[in-house]
Amino acid sequence: NRILKIGLFGFGCVGQGLYDILAREKNLPFQIEKICVKDPAKVRPLPAEEFSFNPEEVLADDQLDLLVEAISDATEAYGIVTAALRKGRRVVTANKKLVAYHLPELLELQEQFGGVLLYEAAVAGGIPIIRTVEEYFSNEPLERVHGILNGSSNYILSQIFQKQKPYADALKEAQDKGFAELDPWLDVAGADSRHKLCILTAHAFGRTLAPQEVAFFGIDSLGNRDLEFARQNGSTIKLVASVHLTPEGEIVPLVLPSLVGDADDLKMVEQEFNGVVVQGGYSGPQLFKGKGAGGHPTGAAVLSDVISISNGYRYGYKKLQQRQAEPALALDFQIE
Ligand code: HSE
Repeated sequence: NRILKIGLFGFGCVGQGLYDILAREKNLPFQIEKICVKDPAKVRPLPAEEFSFNPEEVLADDQLDLLVEAISDATEAYGIVTAALRKGRRVVTANKKLVAYHLPELLELQEQFGGVLLYEAAVAGGIPIIRTVEEYFSNEPLERVHGILNGSSNYILSQIFQKQKPYADALKEAQDKGFAELDPWLDVAGADSRHKLCILTAHAFGRTLAPQEVAFFGIDSLGNRDLEFARQNGSTIKLVASVHLTPEGEIVPLVLPSLVGDADDLKMVEQEFNGVVVQGGYSGPQLFKGKGAGGHPTGAAVLSDVISISNGYRYGYKKLQQRQAEPALALDFQIE
């Protein structure tokens, strides 16, 4: 079996996570051939000659079998991923903001130029939740999908509730551990959860939502009285992103800090873990729990996409297709 060559863009938490896993798992037929980064002056844990500073050169390199985009800046990531898809390349990204804002265009580019894009790492870190709603629930109508999609917020809330840590100290820890975004506002204001919810909604319900369509509140909107109220009620607070289908067929997405009691499935999701409850119309609720942030869990999700993409896998977007066909059918039914 030939060793497949990877071009990696970005060498932050996720890029280094993938690099480290591949360095340890020597039996896997993948090699990171080029690492493209922006700032030549930055001190990195590998010798300078391992890096390229010219994205065009890496994008144009036909020797590379697939590309992995792990840059935190969504605008730069957009430039790289769209350029790669225009060349019909196979691309794995971990960038949730990019996918949330541009999914319709990314789908169009794949169709037009024959490339493939996978992004399991973009939602709930190490939990294979996109693949689960794509494949396992591909035909089952879902009633609701909700969960904790931001590891940093959950880590901070866990520190506050379990260890009585001040908010600022807990946030600093989440940053030091590599869970938080470069701009932690995205985490604590609920924007990152909103991006992930948009992506999940496309796969679970077949609707492409723009992030602007989703109301969001973050843990930065909580005050001491909220924390006190939760404690007095024997509950905790979690940042819950949810989307449900109304009987009229409307979907209602929302990101909101919520009281979570002992009976709630999400109560057991602590620290940087994420948890997603998929409520199937027939199968009932199922909880998926796993590490939602950090280099290794996210790098493992990227690696899983790398393996899948090299085996020819692509998302089916089955529900998206069913959804687009639906209005006419629903109307026929009503007239009858
Ligand atoms: N900042 C994100 C989080 C990283 O805390 O969940 C994983 O997407």
